[in-house]
Amino acid sequence: MTNTRKSIHGQWSSRWAFILAATGSAVGLGNIWKFPYIAGENGGGAFVLVYLLCIASIGIPIMMAEILLGRRGRQSPVNTMRTLASESGRSPHWQWLGWGGVFSGFLILSYYSVVAGWALAYVFRVGSGEFTGVTAARAGALFTELVSDPERLLAWHTIFMGMTMFVVARGVRSGLEQAVRVLMPALFVILLLLVGYALNSGKFAEGAAFLFNPDFSKLTADSILVAMGHAFFTLSLGMGAIMVYGSYLNQHVSIGRTSLFIAALDTLVALLAGLAIFPIVMSHGLEPGAGPGLIFQSLPLAFGHMPGGQFFGALFFVLLVFAAWTSAISLLEPAVTWLVESRGMSRLKATMGCGVAIWALGIGTVLSFNLWSSPLFAGKTFFDLLDYLTANILLPLGGLLISLFAGWLLTREASLDELGLGDGPAYRIWRVLASFVAPLAVAIVFLNAIGLV
Ligand code: TRP
Repeated sequence: MTNTRKSIHGQWSSRWAFILAATGSAVGLGNIWKFPYIAGENGGGAFVLVYLLCIASIGIPIMMAEILLGRRGRQSPVNTMRTLASESGRSPHWQWLGWGGVFSGFLILSYYSVVAGWALAYVFRVGSGEFTGVTAARAGALFTELVSDPERLLAWHTIFMGMTMFVVARGVRSGLEQAVRVLMPALFVILLLLVGYALNSGKFAEGAAFLFNPDFSKLTADSILVAMGHAFFTLSLGMGAIMVYGSYLNQHVSIGRTSLFIAALDTLVALLAGLAIFPIVMSHGLEPGAGPGLIFQSLPLAFGHMPGGQFFGALFFVLLVFAAWTSAISLLEPAVTWLVESRGMSRLKATMGCGVAIWALGIGTVLSFNLWSSPLFAGKTFFDLLDYLTANILLPLGGLLISLFAGWLLTREASLDELGLGDGPAYRIWRVLASFVAPLAVAIVFLNAIGLV
């Protein structure tokens, strides 16, 4: 039976609008900020290889599963899961998968917004010429100076949350779709310019070698978990963001081809960001494992020595903000749609309510870099804990359940019809990946990380 449900929140105006929005969600701080520093912390090449394997074998099938469930249900993730479970004769408890996603989205956005706030601050700092001709040590000191000031961090975090709420409150078409059409192509152009600069930095080969030469002795169980967690994080999987975007997708669009394309673009951006950043890191003797501050030290340093660097540097951080912005929206959307559907709230009120709660939670991250910088638990700060819990545990767990639901519990008729691949090898490959490969891989990595396998 073909699906004839409609979303009450609207629909993307075209296949391209969906691709840009989903790529906008996927491409964000994860690609440009997080990927380089976790690759740096986990030794480079071997980590990147595991990450790429996770994208291909786990990420893509789960992305297809998420879009398919979203488009089938055409509601917020909570209500989509409840409806689909009831239609397939399964327990209503599957709606908890939707709730888990809302919860993860709150946690992620609370710290995501703080880091996006750093990027906002850097637009002005780089643009005002503060980094012109600086040394590596000075660039490091300027970063430390910013994050050790809770009031400034809170101000930038507040502005970024306001920007996110503004777009979400305007709705699917007039908010998000408008923004991504301009911002995403611009991001690609600037990234290519930066890679071009890195090519001339003299250390391109070393940077590329760091990223692509695998040294398996550097690979620990925990770094495999981090690589897998990042595959979820960077593709926005496991919490209903892609599911809710799928609920606005036109019925005729091919889910398989679209998912491959989005995953490829996202991976391309991460690798280009790495290729732009590591040569700079190498040529200035910076530490690749410098942690969350890596790009905030290496890039301003490079721009500070580049003709036109003040302008292009500021532009780069503007685009980083935009990339973060189009991602942040997708973290807020699942909760807002639920409030609108099930609590009868206006979009504006729902956005305000969720946004303020997330903003308040973000204060914990703001303080993690200064007043609360001593570890809370297991050597981790509040920010580290949120990041570890969401990316390495909640998202893979959410993804595991999504793939199990789509592969095993949803009727075959429903997934066949929704994916539109025909009943041939492509459909069967997806089904094997979603039912067996992805869930088993997630389970093994989990068990391995807690030391059981
Ligand atoms: N994928 C985004 C990034 O790489 C972050 C993000 C947006 C996200 N929506 C998400 C992560 C949903 C996990 C789940 O920056």
